[in-house]
Amino acid sequence: MHLTSEEQALLNGDSGDAAQKAMQILETLGRIYGAERMIPIRSVQIAGVSYANLGEAGLEWLSEMAEGGGRAQVLTTLNPAGMDIENYRALGISEDFAEKQRRVLSAFEAMGVVTTCSCTPYLFGNLPCFGEHIAWAESSAVCYANSVLGARTNREGGPSALAAALTGCTPAYGYHLDDNRQPTLHVHVDADIRDNPDFGALGKVIGDRIQSESSGRVPTITGIPDASLENLKSFCASIATYGGVALFHIPGITPEADCYEMPDERFHVSQHDLDSGKASLTNADAEEVDFVSLGCPHLSLREIQRVAELLEGKRVIKEFWITTSRPVKGMADRMGYTAVIEAAGAKFATDTCCVVAPIEGRFHAMATDSAKACYYAHAKNHFKTRLLNFEAVIQEALE
Ligand code: F3S
Repeated sequence: MHLTSEEQALLNGDSGDAAQKAMQILETLGRIYGAERMIPIRSVQIAGVSYANLGEAGLEWLSEMAEGGGRAQVLTTLNPAGMDIENYRALGISEDFAEKQRRVLSAFEAMGVVTTCSCTPYLFGNLPCFGEHIAWAESSAVCYANSVLGARTNREGGPSALAAALTGCTPAYGYHLDDNRQPTLHVHVDADIRDNPDFGALGKVIGDRIQSESSGRVPTITGIPDASLENLKSFCASIATYGGVALFHIPGITPEADCYEMPDERFHVSQHDLDSGKASLTNADAEEVDFVSLGCPHLSLREIQRVAELLEGKRVIKEFWITTSRPVKGMADRMGYTAVIEAAGAKFATDTCCVVAPIEGRFHAMATDSAKACYYAHAKNHFKTRLLNFEAVIQEALE
């Protein structure tokens, strides 16, 4: 693997211990994946921020990198943390956990990382351009950046994303290269796809099929006439969770779809497939639901506006979390949406989400509009789930 003189200097330790360790990680990854060189990047998104996932070993490693002089060389933002940094007590997070989570964030801050704590960095400033090389972790954001924005990133892990941030480069392999962005599978959808649960269920159906056959496929999906930003973020989260998909194309919607030939290999998704996929994500009755959550991935301002419209003058009777980023919450505050939502008894869970917060054992069944949240509610927190559309989720909190 060819390194420039600057990259070799980082590897030799000329810029300190942290940069040297970072370059060692990247050089090793490059050799494993057959990269011929490094490629400069413009931004990084780091996942693995919750203390619940990092634990003491992860915190120690981050502290070492900060003390070793590690400094982000490009715009670097963070995935959700394990708690709302300002409002954690109202969400039932212990002081002990809060203290550890704060130490994690301090280590990132010392390295010049922007502590935004959100899986939708593209909604508030970390918005890569078409064709731009980036190094992002967080599977839903990776899929969104590659597919919807046309930026170029592999699915980084927490350490490789931090290493890219501290050096400003990443090995040139995988989705950074034209050849690997070509579709390898044609999926035709013959079903009515309208709202987030439809898009989420579609991501599950396609993802399950890809996962059962072979990973690393790039599908071109036809039969979807229209999709909003919110639908696409939901779809990205789902197809990445269930199928490990990091890139797809949809003609008329995503920017690279027309750059490639349609692949010969093809399968259909029928209305029956979609309905079965959706039904498989509900295993709780309405009466069992004791937790309601919207915002996986983090809510946009438009979605928060809709929550405020539907809750105005009403009172929720279940624990109801609205998960979003701090910058979007700031806009909701200014627009008066926060006041309406909090007056109804719902809680903002800013900087965090229902998956990375330490809430295992606290609830029995969760209602959500997110297929990804259903997956992790089962797998991580052992909750039962109900997958409903946006309006029905809010109704569930009121009944
Ligand atoms: Fe984001 Fe948490 Fe869902 S990180 S995509 S809200 S699981």
